[in-house]
Amino acid sequence: MLERLGFLPAAASTHAARVDALYFFLIAVSGFFATLIAGLIVTFAYRYRRRAGSETPQPIKGSLALELTWSIIPFGIAMVIFFWGARLFVSVHTPPANALDVFVVGRQWMWKVQHIEGRREINELHVPIGRPVKLTLTSEDVIHSFFVPAFRIKQDAVPGRYTQEWFEATLPGTYHLFCAEYCGTEHSRMIGHIVVMDPADYQAWLSEGVPAGANAASGASTGVLAVAASGEALFQRLGCATCHRGVSGALGPALGGLFGTRVKLQDGETVVADEDYLRESIVNPQAKIVEGYQALMPTFQGQVSEEDLMQLITYIKALRGS
Ligand code: CUA
Repeated sequence: MLERLGFLPAAASTHAARVDALYFFLIAVSGFFATLIAGLIVTFAYRYRRRAGSETPQPIKGSLALELTWSIIPFGIAMVIFFWGARLFVSVHTPPANALDVFVVGRQWMWKVQHIEGRREINELHVPIGRPVKLTLTSEDVIHSFFVPAFRIKQDAVPGRYTQEWFEATLPGTYHLFCAEYCGTEHSRMIGHIVVMDPADYQAWLSEGVPAGANAASGASTGVLAVAASGEALFQRLGCATCHRGVSGALGPALGGLFGTRVKLQDGETVVADEDYLRESIVNPQAKIVEGYQALMPTFQGQVSEEDLMQLITYIKALRGS
């Protein structure tokens, strides 16, 4: 209804109704208190106005009941907002396990999108309806923000790290994509479209843009996708396999089955091998040295682009333990 009147963008994802509900709750609470306070100001100003020049007001002592009331009720309301908001925030940032992987790299001034099956696009993102899509975002230069009002999602793309967000589109159509973080001269033109398609159309679209044989060559039957295949080629070209040979006594730790596990470091700390850890270990290998290994690895900062990193990480994620 409000969407049709132009007060709200279309509600085209599973997050939309839940985000709107919280939004309207905040509006209702603000509206209620704004009205109450404005009403009381006017009423009291009239009711307790000075009637005679000689009038002296009665001094007021404290009222415990009153003070408790105006402390406890706002505290309760603030806690409702906090827990409601936190739940929503966590669920918007916790992608379901079956989500499609899409990588997004922001740069001045465009959005580069890479589908894990291989297809790339710029300032456009095609997604199937009714399927969770997980976005992994980063930036090549400054902070950008990936904002899709119709999905009620907004996530910063930060240089030097990955951020994640997910959505599930519910309505076919084309929706606005904006950059919502001022990022330079052409910030306002860093815009694009999200195209929500039927699953069948999406499959057809996906296979269109991938060079013939790319998926076959990468062994689609073994579940290795085009991006992982590009990552493997890079892995060989950069000579990673020289040290990460996956055998005991190798100079670098084995990478098979590494993703998602806990890694013990030299300083006794333990970290989870997630995308950010892998990224950091490639561009800044000295930051976290795995227990039992030496700080021998050179940095690959400047030698690999954000897209290269993403491909390498996808390849490492796809490696099974051997
Ligand atoms: Cu990118 Cu604003």
